[in-house]
Amino acid sequence: MVARIFVTRMIPFWEEVSKPLVDAGHEVVMYPNHKPITREEIEIEIEKGYDGLLTLLTDKIDEGLLVHDKSGQLKVIANYAVGYDNIDIEACKKHNIKVANTPCDEVNESVAEFTWSLMLALTRRLPEAGEFMRNAAYRGWDPDIFVGRDMMGKTLGIAGMGRIGGMVARRAEGFGMRIEYYNRKPVEGVNYEYKARLEELLAQSDFVSLHVPLTAETRHLINKTNLHLFKKTAVLVNTARGPVVDEVEVGEALRAGMIAGYGADVFENEPDPHPELLLMENVLLTPHIASATEGARKKMGELAVLNLTEGLAGKEMPNLVRGL
Ligand code: DGY
Repeated sequence: MVARIFVTRMIPFWEEVSKPLVDAGHEVVMYPNHKPITREEIEIEIEKGYDGLLTLLTDKIDEGLLVHDKSGQLKVIANYAVGYDNIDIEACKKHNIKVANTPCDEVNESVAEFTWSLMLALTRRLPEAGEFMRNAAYRGWDPDIFVGRDMMGKTLGIAGMGRIGGMVARRAEGFGMRIEYYNRKPVEGVNYEYKARLEELLAQSDFVSLHVPLTAETRHLINKTNLHLFKKTAVLVNTARGPVVDEVEVGEALRAGMIAGYGADVFENEPDPHPELLLMENVLLTPHIASATEGARKKMGELAVLNLTEGLAGKEMPNLVRGL
């Protein structure tokens, strides 16, 4: 069957990765602007009738949008991301639409590497030191400048021992750290110390890294009721999803000296971090780039296209999300 597909935004390596769609003879319509499509624009597109969508995490796909698919033509959505909290899976189920994401080692490794970049940069004060050099402020070796924290022998607490959490943990072994993890249940084959209670993990860790998906259960997982349990010297890192922490309460904890640092690649209300965080020296924020490596981006594109071609051919999408 020749299908109509709408791509909500140009993705990297599109020319290379989209070949299977072209070969299958599908008609592909691409949003022409290099910015997130607006709600209104996507509603108008959906009304035109498409069999498949390639969406980004900036597109909110919910019941209010799906009702614009008046003839029920839409059958498959390939989300160009591992996380799919931008899509209401129950609404898709109701409309008989299959949804797939792009989980792969390339993304997982890339996010794990980035988590470490953030943790190291924050701990060793790289942004400040870089700024210092750019301002030509260096006057010669000084034992007292940019003194950071030690990592060797310290405890890394990982909240969410999925693939990315596991890759972050393995890298911590190389830094001579102790590793503990919190998860809903112990993970088979993982020999790091398991904590059944998040509170216990937070209280014992020198570094806490978040690797849970965003769900109703994990929204504001880190909040004022547990921020006071952290060591005052602890550093919190978030490369998962912004709303996993209560950003305002993290800001308050930083201001009150309840935690020593916060590194985040994701924000509660993207693209805008809580403004207070932008002003703090012990905070390092980056623009949701943890998976931004060439290898990861290319693989994400290949998988999104594969999910579309398979789904449109009536086969099971290789990365069909749970619950569909
Ligand atoms: C993901 O894949 O979920 C990342 O957050 C974006 O690449």
